[in-house]
Amino acid sequence: MALPSTRARLSDIEKYRAQVLAHPLARGISPDEVREHLAQVPRQRFPRIAYANRGPDPFIQPRGGFPLFEAQHSLTRQLSEAGADFIPLTIDSYTRQNQYDTATELLRRSEEEGKDYLNGYPLVSHGYELTRQLYSDLAKPVSLRHGTPDARLLAEVAIASGIAEIEGGAICYCVPYSEGFPLDRCLLYWQYVDRLCAVNSTEELPIHRESFGPLTATLVPPAIVVAIEVIEALLAAEQGVTSFAVSFGQTGSMVQDIATATVLRALTRRYLEEFGFAAVETYFVYHQWMGQFPVQRERAAALIACSAAIASMISADKIVVKTVDEAYGVPRPEINAEACDTVRYVLRTFRSAKSITSPMIERETALIRSEAESILDEVLNLSGSAFWESVFRAFHMGFLDVPFSPHADNANKLVSVRDANGSIRIADAANVPVSAQNALLEKELLESREDRAAQTYKQMLSDIRLMV
Ligand code: 5AD
Repeated sequence: MALPSTRARLSDIEKYRAQVLAHPLARGISPDEVREHLAQVPRQRFPRIAYANRGPDPFIQPRGGFPLFEAQHSLTRQLSEAGADFIPLTIDSYTRQNQYDTATELLRRSEEEGKDYLNGYPLVSHGYELTRQLYSDLAKPVSLRHGTPDARLLAEVAIASGIAEIEGGAICYCVPYSEGFPLDRCLLYWQYVDRLCAVNSTEELPIHRESFGPLTATLVPPAIVVAIEVIEALLAAEQGVTSFAVSFGQTGSMVQDIATATVLRALTRRYLEEFGFAAVETYFVYHQWMGQFPVQRERAAALIACSAAIASMISADKIVVKTVDEAYGVPRPEINAEACDTVRYVLRTFRSAKSITSPMIERETALIRSEAESILDEVLNLSGSAFWESVFRAFHMGFLDVPFSPHADNANKLVSVRDANGSIRIADAANVPVSAQNALLEKELLESREDRAAQTYKQMLSDIRLMV
């Protein structure tokens, strides 16, 4: 058994850092100068300070990235003026895949032709000196949004730019996003990123990490999400991260959203405390619907408004916002700003009574909790010389199995479908260690669905698209 422990902390980060910082696009980042810069950045740019001053509503976090500096600068201003509490820096796909030469070339073409050839901001190509200027008059946290399995250089440049929130993780930015990037490498590269955040943190002003709980955003049973989120919190805590947000994506069932929120909160605290990481401050983030979006903008707006109300019901610390352009591509800045405004309106108008519950919600909460605990306990029981090795083995054994993942290290044997209430049910747990009793309960809850067994393919599509 290899339990999460501070002994797994990368002691020789400086050796690895020298290698990463030797890259020409690191542009001579100096660890000491970065720490000095972070000490001068306004305190409100650190998520911990922002969260400590949160009012009654969840914080609002849009996404957004354009290749050109001027466009990103203008987007930053527009989103901030529209009421975004966290400012995004969404990275382009080439940079995510470490293809910096292509990103740099397409950035040059975008600049020359005044047309966007990249789907995000190529942070490594722009470099930290220019990027600091994006935020010279900003007093809100900036969140690095990407999807990068090897984010070592990217995280270095982000932190050197004064960005104090790094999204991602070894599982959540690998298993849903890539087919062949080896998961064990990813686990080690994310140790570096977590450790880097820790060494750039002070007790008062930590560099904050956030995991990406939606995963493939396609019929992922809540228990799987909870288990993976807890694991990523533990992996980060091992490296000395002291400020961490877990998250999950809107499931399509209000009952399941409320239940998942309760369990995710409780188990994140339980396991961190159990392994000696009680001092880690945790937050909880809700993602608006991450699946296919309606092309009709009225429907998209309705979806956005409803999930804002759910974020309020579950007292999320932050809600990640979609836009009515979602079905079409990268959102226009004014549409993105409008989404922040709509969500703010809903949050203010429907400030909810806390602790909504019902017998159905209680049953769902107990089920998700019991399933997530048995998965986590089996993963923690696996042999290995370090916790990350147990996590790696858990995927090979199929203990952790993310539906619709393209990744070669993922079993893809678990089968999930929606029940009559739109909740995601485990129809076949395959090798995921849920108890016989819970497996039976899942099946019984599925019985309520009348079209079960009929037209399986059509049923699957409608389950995915949230049109039960
Ligand atoms: N700008 C704004 N949003 C983006 N997304 C991805 N790239 C960008 C970008 N450059 C959003 C889309 C996508 C989600 C994962 O991130 O909404 O569905």
